[in-house]
Amino acid sequence: MAMKERAQQFLEKHKLLAEAIDADAVIHEFISEMEKGLADRDSSLKMIPTYVTIDNPVPAGKPVIVIDAGGTNLRVATLTFAADGSYTVANFHKAPMPGTKEVVRTKEEFFDRLADFLEPVIDDSDRIGFCFSYPARITPDCDGVLIEWTKGIQAKEVEGESIGKGLNAALAKRGKAGKRIVILNDTIATLLAGKSIGGPRQYDTYLGVIEGTGSNTAYVEQNRNVPKLADMNTGAMAINLESGGFGKCPRTDIDVAFDATTGSAGKQKFEKMISGGYLGGVGLHAMKAAAAEGLFSAAASAQIGGWTKLETKDMDDFLWNPHRPSVFNTPAFGSDDRELVLCIAAAVIRRAALLLAINVAAPAIKSGKGTTPLHPVCVVMDGSTYYKTNNLKSQTEEFLRGILSKRGIFFDTIQVQEQAVEYMSANGERKSDTVGAPVIGAAVAGLTV
Ligand code: GLC
Repeated sequence: MAMKERAQQFLEKHKLLAEAIDADAVIHEFISEMEKGLADRDSSLKMIPTYVTIDNPVPAGKPVIVIDAGGTNLRVATLTFAADGSYTVANFHKAPMPGTKEVVRTKEEFFDRLADFLEPVIDDSDRIGFCFSYPARITPDCDGVLIEWTKGIQAKEVEGESIGKGLNAALAKRGKAGKRIVILNDTIATLLAGKSIGGPRQYDTYLGVIEGTGSNTAYVEQNRNVPKLADMNTGAMAINLESGGFGKCPRTDIDVAFDATTGSAGKQKFEKMISGGYLGGVGLHAMKAAAAEGLFSAAASAQIGGWTKLETKDMDDFLWNPHRPSVFNTPAFGSDDRELVLCIAAAVIRRAALLLAINVAAPAIKSGKGTTPLHPVCVVMDGSTYYKTNNLKSQTEEFLRGILSKRGIFFDTIQVQEQAVEYMSANGERKSDTVGAPVIGAAVAGLTV
């Protein structure tokens, strides 16, 4: 039998094909978990109210300091919007997120490091919009209490702390007390950026979606539908689903085997099937299973058996161009081996596309919006995994259209344009980077919330 057919049989047997997923059933479970989370009942979806409304106009000409703490990087800058919605970026800096490469032992050290990093911009504004891409319970004053770290950050003492208060205390030690700090998730920032400068159309509602190292979604809910906000019956606010934690999606033996190796077994189960931090790991575990079943040559099996890690980027690079030098382009991998790797990698990405589409569709359906083409739902998509991974964007959009069209929901997916910035690195090198939705949305929140 040709390798393509053998690969297909293997993928079917391990339920790794998108076809093995009953999308309607998963959406049903997803919405039910959303409802439970909104009611403070036991749920794998945290459904975090953010006290962010999305209709406030953005003041022109007022600088605001922005911090963006993402998966691996910390960015800081000062943004100023013009009356036409365009913006300028000044004093941009970038550094590794504390706790990614080393253990940060105390909370004081963590906040001091943030304060150090803010030093060059601290006098630019008395307002700070802080895009904090981790699960944080938001208080009505828009501070955020870190629930727990995701993405492997090692700074245990910060869990349970108020991020804005902790940072203000560290700034106070330097005589810079009393900043108005607004903490918001990257999905909320993305949603706000899309609303403020994203698209020209009149939309019925907005969703903010991140598909990067992690994966998560935010949408706007009517407060009367949020039983855990008992005293708020009018108006609407953005809700951070923390959808990476969704725990009711059927997992395969491959997902379970991979999860056990992550150091956070049993957590962020959905994210581990979808996002850039993990897709390579899922692929590697599928390859290990295929090797155990004798599908790879002895030489390729031996090589795969020795790997403890496969980056999503390495798997994806091979998909883009299997003929370029890569971890798979060694004499150990014959043409059948390479074909099998390609089949596995493509299936893992296609399945992620379906799950990501479910991640977007469920809140769109729950919102009850977008039922006429006059006012569609606007899905603001951000994250490098989404835009860079082979076929991920196109397949997600295809699945999303299939799911939402049959329910009569109209939608657009949009990307907030990134702006290139140049900066001087800590060791004096001239570097370039981009600012996008998380930074822009944090600036909007810093000025309007
Ligand atoms: C992880 C974080 C979440 C964030 C997402 C995307 O899931 O827990 O807060 O939005 O990654 O960065």
